[in-house]
Amino acid sequence: MKAPRPYDELLAEILVSEEQLQKRIPELGAQISQDYQDKDLHLICILRGGVMFLTDLMRQIDIPHTVDFMAVSSYGAGARESSGQVRIALDLTNDIRGRDVLLVEDIVDSGNTIASVLELLGARHPNSLRVCTLLDKKVMRQAEVPIHYTGFEIPNKFVFGYGLDLDEFYRDLPFIGVVNTTKYSPPD
Ligand code: IMP
Ligand code: MG
Repeated sequence: MKAPRPYDELLAEILVSEEQLQKRIPELGAQISQDYQDKDLHLICILRGGVMFLTDLMRQIDIPHTVDFMAVSSYGAGARESSGQVRIALDLTNDIRGRDVLLVEDIVDSGNTIASVLELLGARHPNSLRVCTLLDKKVMRQAEVPIHYTGFEIPNKFVFGYGLDLDEFYRDLPFIGVVNTTKYSPPD
């Protein structure tokens, strides 16, 4: 893999700052803690983009809860598109039957990925199944997906940082940045 350039060469603008993230996530955590007070909350993080959000979010949830991870990949689509169908690349460790599952996602774009994941997990009979996404590119939606918790609605720009990658790098950045498309083009 090609060694990455310093991120600021690829950054057009900061879309969501570290301060904005660290203010919003406790609000989401408080809401979730309230909504799931008497429930059996089980967070499922979709790898890899959701990891930063998950770890910050779970520290803001003050009721007992468990976590698990899964990874999915889309069938027959380019790196920047979603085909609508996903394959489980890494399955959950634990059974979700009867549990109150909250999916933790980095970003919902067309909605195809999350729609497909909801269908797969719904078939395993959780008691409830909801979605919490940090970012929502609402204008791009193709699939009808119910999203219960949203960090930020964002425009149709390709973003990176805070879990989201640019060719696997820059996930560690503490903010969400917009890619400078004159300096960066995705590999084919
Ligand atoms: P969807 O199936 O179109 O909703 O795509 C969702 C997935 O596409 C996310 O889980 C991300 O992995 C990826 N994705 C969509 N937009 C972006 C972006 O702006 N930056 C990084 N990844 C993105
Ligand atoms: Mg993702």
